[in-house]
Formats: sequence, structure tokens, C-alpha cells
Amino acid sequence: MSLYAHVTGWGIAVPDEILTNEKLAQIVETSDEWIVSRTGIRERRIARKDQSTATLAADAARKALERTEIDARDLDLIILATSSPEHIFPATACLVQDSIGAIKAGAFDLSAACTGFIFALNMAAQAIRSGSIENALVIGSETLSRLVNWDDRSTCILFGDGAGAFVLQASDEPGGILSAVMRSDGSGGNLLSVPAGGSKIPTSHEAIDKNQHLIQMNGREVFRFATRVMASATRDTAAHAGWDVEEIDYVIPHQANQRIIEAAARGLRLPIDRFIVNLEKYGNTSTASIPLAMVEALDNGQIKDGSNLVLVGFGAGLTWGALSMRWIEPKVKVTRLERRRRSLLTWLARMRSFLRRVQRRIEGLIWGTSSKGQE
Ligand SMILES: CC(C)(COP(=O)(O)OP(=O)(O)OC[C@H]1O[C@@H](n2cnc3c(N)ncnc32)[C@H](O)[C@@H]1OP(=O)(O)O)[C@@H](O)C(=O)NCCC(=O)NCCS
Repeated sequence: MSLYAHVTGWGIAVPDEILTNEKLAQIVETSDEWIVSRTGIRERRIARKDQSTATLAADAARKALERTEIDARDLDLIILATSSPEHIFPATACLVQDSIGAIKAGAFDLSAACTGFIFALNMAAQAIRSGSIENALVIGSETLSRLVNWDDRSTCILFGDGAGAFVLQASDEPGGILSAVMRSDGSGGNLLSVPAGGSKIPTSHEAIDKNQHLIQMNGREVFRFATRVMASATRDTAAHAGWDVEEIDYVIPHQANQRIIEAAARGLRLPIDRFIVNLEKYGNTSTASIPLAMVEALDNGQIKDGSNLVLVGFGAGLTWGALSMRWIEPKVKVTRLERRRRSLLTWLARMRSFLRRVQRRIEGLIWGTSSKGQE
């Protein structure tokens, strides 16, 4: 039985539209200087109308799969962490499963706000290490621009859209995901939330008039909480992996705020250049922020074979967690022919999905079932 769970594929998808601080200053009373000095963010991406959490997730997933020796049909499990799902249900993960043609994968969403990617990665790694599955896809994907109150200058400056995906595979080679800590404290649930649209405050005109369908946050309290938990979670997971803090080559933190990351570096007594940061380009993309930062560091060669990594995050819930990973460079080379074969598979997946919808329509007509819920 394989004992280790390795990341063998990685990909990101971000919308092309860039919203700079200068452009934001034309929407709300703020300035580039204020935003940069309080957060480090310079710009963020905003999804087009035809893009959504599922489409960004599927794009990132396809890119991640392209790097591996498997294709979507080999996936056993898809976990999609998101704070901006397409619907309350069905799970966004199922829409991605259909879109990429992962015909034998179980798929579900994981809701742990910005810590979601770490929790999802840990759950998938545990399933692999237990021997119950071999191949998993873990995605963090967001279109937070749809949940932001564009009149609230204390929150709209922070968030952005994007997605990141990792393929995880079982292996006998030591390394990969080694340990994780997952924590929560629901007593702080009110500090960061989208109050309406669920069962407690169902969607109503009144809820919308009060902006309860949009993100509400107590920024100062969230800031205090974040600075408290980042260093301790990093220390805990490193200890579980058998490392001293100094043995961590890179920390990949949730990209919420430069000052929070600097506080974590001080708390851990690690130089700031051991932290991988790209929040200036994307803002806080919640579950997507850690893969967005890590994939960039992989692609520019910063993370090397054998690097000791800690991924650490915090978010609404309150939730926080960290995960340690020894990075082992996958040795797979995908040929051009193989890429062609995969494009064909993607096309076939779309056709299959389309035909299943048509089949359901026809069966509905024959059996006289209502057409409700078919769109
Ligand atoms: C949101 C955050 C940047 C605000 O920074 P801050 O230094 O705490 O600022 P405050 O909320 O204390 O506000 C200070 C002043 O700036 C003002 N202000 C808030 N947003 C502003 C903006 N975008 N531009 C200009 N001024 C702004 C406030 O109105 C306040 O003015 P006042 O003193 O006249 O009332 C900071 O609290 C933060 O980053 N918190 C963590 C949020 C986070 O990461 N959330 C996601 C977690 S996953």
C-alpha cells in the first residue's frame, strides 16, 4: 500500500480584468496609498459575467491535470473549497466533475472559508494515505467580487477572484503531505460572514435592503485573531512533521494582508523572504490564495525539489490551520500527443454531459415528468 500523498499537478486560473487601487478609488473613498500601506494589495482580478466559481475551478483543474500522467477519468475524489459557491446546492465540485469528465469521482464542496484549501488538501491526503483512494483533485476557487459590498470601502478593497488546483496521487516515495493541524472557534462566527441566503435568514427583499447577502466583517477583530493563530499553527504542523521552525524553507500563507504575514514572520523569528507572497497582484482570493501563491513559486523555480513547505491559513468560522509538505518534483513529461488525447477527452466529456441532459429531457417527455429544475 502506498504511504504517501504527493502533489503531482498544479494549475491556476485568474480572470483577465484587473481592478487597480486607482480604479477602486473612483468607486469608493479610498486611495492607493491607504490600501497599500494597510494591506499590501495593489490590484485584484474580477471575473467576467460568463465566468464563475465553477468555470475558474474547471480551468485550473484542467491545467493541473495536464501536468500529470493521469486524466480526469482516473480521479477518485474532487474536493472544492470555496467561500463563493455557485449555489447552496448542488455542490460546485459536482459542476466541475461534470465539466472535466471525472466520471468515477465523488465530488463535494468544503466550507471552511479561507482555510478551506488547507482542510481540503489534508482530507484528500488522508484518504490517499489510508489506502481508500489513489488520485484526488483539490481546488480552491472564488468569485468573491459577487459577494462584496462595493459601497463598503473597508471590505471591497480586500477581495479578488481566482482559482487554484492541485492533483494529489498515492506514491511509495517518502515526502508529500506530512502533517496538518485543523482548528476552529465558532464563537467568532459573527466577525466575518455573509449572513443571508441560507436557512437562518432566507433571501428576502428586507435582507437585500440591509445588504445581508454581502460580506460583512469586523476588520480589526479579524486582524487580531489572524496575527495570533498564524505562527502557532505553523509551529504545530512543523513539530508534527518532525521539523524545527528553522528547517522550513518556505511558508505559503493565506494572502490576506502583508502586515498579518509580517506579524507571523516576527512570531516565528523567520526572515520575511521565507514567506511566499503575491497578494499585491490578486488581493485576498480566500480558498484560492494559497494555491495561487504556491503555483507561482513553483513555476518561477523558487520552490525546489526537497523543499520543506508549510501552508498556513485562517478565515471565517473562525477557522485556521496549517499543513506541512516536503516538495518532491514530479518526474512526468507529458508529450504533445498526450496533450492532444486529453483535449479530445475534454471535448468528449462536454459531449457526454450534453447528451445526458438531452436524454433526461427525452425521458421527461416520455414519462411526463415535470420540466421543473431542468435548467
Ligand atoms: C480591513 C483593514 C485593512 C482595516 O485596516 P485598519 O488599520 O484596521 O483600519 P480601521 O478599520 O481601524 O479603520 C481606520 C480608519 O480608516 C478608514 N478606512 C477604512 N477603510 C478604508 C479605505 N479603504 N480607505 C480609506 N480609509 C479607510 C476607516 O473608516 C477608519 O476611519 P475613522 O478612524 O475615521 O473611523 C484591517 O483591519 C484588516 O486587514 N483586517 C483583516 C481583514 C482580513 O484579512 N479579512 C479577511 C480574513 S480571511
